[in-house]
Amino acid sequence: GFNVHFAKMGDDLSVAPGQTVLAAALAKGMRLPASCTRGVCGTCKTKLLEGKVDMQHEGGIRQREVDQGFFLPCCSKPLTDLIVDR
Ligand code: FES
Repeated sequence: GFNVHFAKMGDDLSVAPGQTVLAAALAKGMRLPASCTRGVCGTCKTKLLEGKVDMQHEGGIRQREVDQGFFLPCCSKPLTDLIVDR
């Protein structure tokens, strides 16, 4: 798995292979903004400061936002260690 560092919270999270960032966070009891949990609503949108993810969204984020470095933790699996702006 990979490590996700939450820059503002100062927290670290281990994400198992095949697990989304949000699923790992909820399993650990972390409180993150989320609603649909499947890449539709955009509620979980977060800036990715470092690293790469495999994001399989359902329209909850615009390409322009992806280009600006945002991602949806609910439908993204880490491909590297990550640092997120949360
Ligand atoms: Fe809806 Fe992530 S919770 S897009």
